[in-house]
Amino acid sequence: MSQQSAPQRQPETDEVRRPDLSIGSTGTTPYEDYVHADVLTHLQHPLSDDPGEMAFLVTTQVMELWFTVVVHEWHTAAQALRRDDLPVAMEALERSTHQLEALNAAWKPLARLTPAQFNAFRGALGEGSGFQSAMYRRMEFLLGEKSASMLVPHRGAPREYAELEKALQEPSLWDEVLRLLARRGYGIPREVLDREVTARYEPDARVEAVWAEVYAGPRDGELVRLGEALTDVAELVWRWRNDHLVATRRAMGAKMGTGGSAGVAWLEKRASKNVFPELWTARSHV
Ligand code: HEM
Repeated sequence: MSQQSAPQRQPETDEVRRPDLSIGSTGTTPYEDYVHADVLTHLQHPLSDDPGEMAFLVTTQVMELWFTVVVHEWHTAAQALRRDDLPVAMEALERSTHQLEALNAAWKPLARLTPAQFNAFRGALGEGSGFQSAMYRRMEFLLGEKSASMLVPHRGAPREYAELEKALQEPSLWDEVLRLLARRGYGIPREVLDREVTARYEPDARVEAVWAEVYAGPRDGELVRLGEALTDVAELVWRWRNDHLVATRRAMGAKMGTGGSAGVAWLEKRASKNVFPELWTARSHV
């Protein structure tokens, strides 16, 4: 036997108090009342016997939760911009970039699915597809990627439909950014300010010129910082789309999607789009 004595386990003493075991013993715990962990951890109902499906389902649920937080942050930011409260808007946007990084890290468990692994439960998904995610659609609407037709799959779900319809009718985060720039004296054209907010935002050369002007100004100016926070958001959303594309390409090649699209070819088209396009193109003119 070694002469070295094993580290002694600390006896429980009165000086190091353990948590109070009586909290919650007469009902649900305050933790449960706040987190609803019991609900959350019993919402997993795999549709196949494949042991790999659980990771697919939970990753999808985790992503839905991140979409929910990000929508909350961008909505907060849009409302703050509307009342010219740039500090609150910046805080929300910066929080959202950390959340988007966590969202993107959630691809890890699915990034290397082989076709055989995916096929083991793919059939059980039927026509189910992330394309039918209402919360993801709200993210896209907030970014200016509006489309009334995207409400169609949600017609049978009154709450989702109402929330999406409201998001469609509201100015996007980008609309609020451009309105703020106009109030600060920048030459955002009237047609852009008065545009039909339920329509997809189309890039405008005059908006690009405004951003080039902002970026040519003081380097630590608050509008440059706003532009950079929005660029971080744009880059991270673009990364999510591309990580999704690559995971899909690995898992199913060029097969059709469960949601009825051409699959990878359709996702490639979606992923090639830039979020807040003028923030990228303006860089060539600074
Ligand atoms: C490796 C696993 C995955 C594969 C193979 C896959 C495949 C696809 C395909 C082919 C589409 C195109 C629509 C269709 O025809 O179905 C799609 C759309 C979509 N998927 Fe996935 N997906 C995967 C994982 C996920 C996860 C975990 C999420 C998280 C919620 C997700 C969210 C979405 C969203 C939001 C769209 C619509 C994108 C848009 O509107 O631009 N996918 N997916």
